[in-house]
Amino acid sequence: MIFLLAILGCGLLYLLHRLRHYMTRIEPLQVATPEYEVVDNNLPESLDGLRICQISDLHSSLHWYNKKAISDALKKVHADLYLFTGDMIYMQEGIGAFLRWLEEMKDSVHPFILILGNAEHKPWLRDEELFEGLKRYDDWVLINQSLTFKWKAGELQVVGLDDPHTENDDANIAYANADPNKWTLLLSHSPDGIVGVGERRADLTLSGHTHGGQIRLPVIGALICNTSKTKGFISGWFHSHEIEKRIKRKTGVKLLYVSKGLGTGNVKARFLCNPEAPVFTLRRTPTGNGANTIRVNT
Ligand SMILES: [Fe+2]
Repeated sequence: MIFLLAILGCGLLYLLHRLRHYMTRIEPLQVATPEYEVVDNNLPESLDGLRICQISDLHSSLHWYNKKAISDALKKVHADLYLFTGDMIYMQEGIGAFLRWLEEMKDSVHPFILILGNAEHKPWLRDEELFEGLKRYDDWVLINQSLTFKWKAGELQVVGLDDPHTENDDANIAYANADPNKWTLLLSHSPDGIVGVGERRADLTLSGHTHGGQIRLPVIGALICNTSKTKGFISGWFHSHEIEKRIKRKTGVKLLYVSKGLGTGNVKARFLCNPEAPVFTLRRTPTGNGANTIRVNT
């Protein structure tokens, strides 16, 4: 009997060891770049075909073990615009790691627009190092601001909230110079930011922060959401009717995507929740090119 229990114990330990290996060394390196066609007949013709890629929650650090997998995946994307939706770093050391990576990837992730997450708002962080390092590029950092991104003959209005998780978001200031008549892309690190946006215009909104739960159990799903105002917005697509039902108020957010992100936080593991850098092609009508079609107005 003791011998049998010892065998079972050894078998269990071996399985746990293999599971730990998979969660920390296999799945975090399986970086996906899912393609979506975002279809909206209100999209200006001049923006039809614009291809944007979201890079969220990199959490770069000195021991950034899935850096090569992320770089390899992003080098194949070839988007017109890259959107960093916060949490680029992990701790102070992450600033240098992120800036070195950005320089290595300068031919593959430009032009970009970057917003801040809660990782960039740690009270002890010397984030001037980050802003100083970003100055060498002709790209944009939006902190409760908006801008117009020019692409071919088109102009994309982009509004970037500061981090909602640390309550630095201010939609009033962010939208102050935005034109409500223009098709608008909203960037908000946490989906919690959409609550403060109210009925202001956001045709497509990109968020991250949740890591998709990072560790998901079969049937049960994610155990942790890490949002306070938008519980349940863990990953994937959410349309306005579903958002209004969940936040119990009217919203100008027509379509929200919450990315599972690319890195990991304090727990360096992923399970049933692989890292991703989603790619969105904006379209007025579907092209049927094989990408997942998501309609803004449904
Ligand atoms: Fe975050």
